[in-house]
Amino acid sequence: MPTYSYDFLVIGSGIAGLTFALKAAKHGRVAVVTKKESMEANTAYAQGGIAGVLEPENDSFEKHIEDTLDAGAGLCNREAVELVVREGPRLIQELIDLGVEFTRKNGKLDLGREGGHSENRIVHAKDATGREVQQALVNTVKSHPNVKVFEYHFAVDLLTEHHLDQEVCQGDDIHCFGAYVLDQKNNTVKRMLAKVTVLASGGAGEVYQHSTNPSIATGDGVAMGYRAKAHIANMEFIQFHPTSLNIYEADSFLISEALRGYGAILRNKDGEAFMAEYDDRKELAPRDIVARAIDDQLKQRGEESVYLDVTHLDAEQTKREFPNIYETCLRFGLDITQKQIPVVPAAHYVCGGISTDLDGQTSIQQLFACGETACTGIHGANRLASNSLLESLVFADQSAQKAIAMIDELGFEERIPEWDESGMVNTEEWVLISHNREELRKIMWNYVGIVRSNLRLERALRRINLLYEEVESFYDRTKLSVPLCELRNLISVAYLIVQSALKRKESRGLHYTTDYPNLEDTKNTIIRR
Ligand code: FAD
Ligand code: SIN
Repeated sequence: MPTYSYDFLVIGSGIAGLTFALKAAKHGRVAVVTKKESMEANTAYAQGGIAGVLEPENDSFEKHIEDTLDAGAGLCNREAVELVVREGPRLIQELIDLGVEFTRKNGKLDLGREGGHSENRIVHAKDATGREVQQALVNTVKSHPNVKVFEYHFAVDLLTEHHLDQEVCQGDDIHCFGAYVLDQKNNTVKRMLAKVTVLASGGAGEVYQHSTNPSIATGDGVAMGYRAKAHIANMEFIQFHPTSLNIYEADSFLISEALRGYGAILRNKDGEAFMAEYDDRKELAPRDIVARAIDDQLKQRGEESVYLDVTHLDAEQTKREFPNIYETCLRFGLDITQKQIPVVPAAHYVCGGISTDLDGQTSIQQLFACGETACTGIHGANRLASNSLLESLVFADQSAQKAIAMIDELGFEERIPEWDESGMVNTEEWVLISHNREELRKIMWNYVGIVRSNLRLERALRRINLLYEEVESFYDRTKLSVPLCELRNLISVAYLIVQSALKRKESRGLHYTTDYPNLEDTKNTIIRR
């Protein structure tokens, strides 16, 4: 069996993983493992853009910092916010240098506006920013001599002292030596050793029945980190995007907030523009407020959708500026320049994750986390629009700088055994996996959504515990497969969300519970196995 040893092992090929890989590749050999083709990542679906102070004559770092802190509802780490806001423009410029073509007007970057931003500061490539960024990163990484990309390779578990049969201590003296990775084409598990491992495996929208995320977003990084005893923070803060397309076949396609920045109005079925009842900023209030307002309208009126209206705006301009949204809706028989768009909230982004310091280091040594899988402190209780790609860039950069500085002092842990498959069989019960996945997603949608209560959370927890027992016993006797690993990870993530929500005895930002409707406690929620 060949040995796979790299200076840096990166799990995930989104903006965070690829940015880290490109920087680290200047100083050592990098492996990027990714569970599908390299382009498949939440990053590629991003629409609105990347927030950054790029016109200091009209905007300032202070304003972007204040907007971020305001959205975060008292729980952001100010140092992390300042770091991201100040370093952001340099890293956006690096993307432009790589060949990313952001939309320009009269030669200048065209800066858009989204909810919670006091200025126009979103760089974007029309309404398909992520595709443009992801393509440029994938092209550059694939042609780099120091980076080897392993597509269709699924990271199963992190390698730590646990795999040496050593008693893992209760303190923070755990080390990461790489990962076991399932090669999906050959159906074998590779032991991939690394001096530094980076979890850049993205979000977990798939844990909810309705989500704007692609189905790869199964929270694998958070689940692996949790199993390895990393500190997991603030998982109760799940962001529901207010406006996903509510046409059955459209599978929660996102209708970008940039459309509201452009002048779209939210209306109920009677045509009433309702946002002024909820917030002075109306359609441009932060996302938690808009999502709760929509939820309230739907419940009060017993209706299935609210409507986003751009019919009063210039049709040609709408088509020019939002070609992705225009054409996608048209495929479903809806011309958005003529008719209002039926929308509902859908799970969109996990603000919590593996807790890191300002260098992207987790509580496990030689393990970094960046991007959506990490909780760096910048988002607090609610993420400001278009701050996620920005955070991913900055924390991938911070992590790379720190990892490069330590790499010469580190070695490989050769004593880690190869994967042992003895005692594992193929079974006929695969249908259990898809049924359990659907059941879990429904439980989370029905009981752990925008408005929560102890009763609903406890009901969810009882059901998740049952699924956990069933799936763990199946996992112990069954040959590895991606659907089984993903299900196991989704169950862990669901458990972490519910446990974190039960621990927070207040309502703040994205966590709203009818049992504790007020603000009480400004602490982070930390869970460790
Ligand atoms: P991702 O881009 O999701 O990449 C994760 C990678 O890890 C993927 O390649 C995946 O295949 C891989 N992976 C996962 N698990 C494993 C495993 N076990 N083994 C191997 N590989 C694995 N944010 C903004 O700032 N602005 C926007 O305009 C914006 N729009 C959005 C629109 C949509 C529809 C969505 C879904 C999100 C949007 N976001 C936006 C959020 C933002 O896109 C994500 O938070 C960000 O792209 C996360 O980047 P990442 O590198 O952390 O993860
Ligand atoms: C959007 O375009 O509305 C998504 C922006 C984001 O998630 O930051």
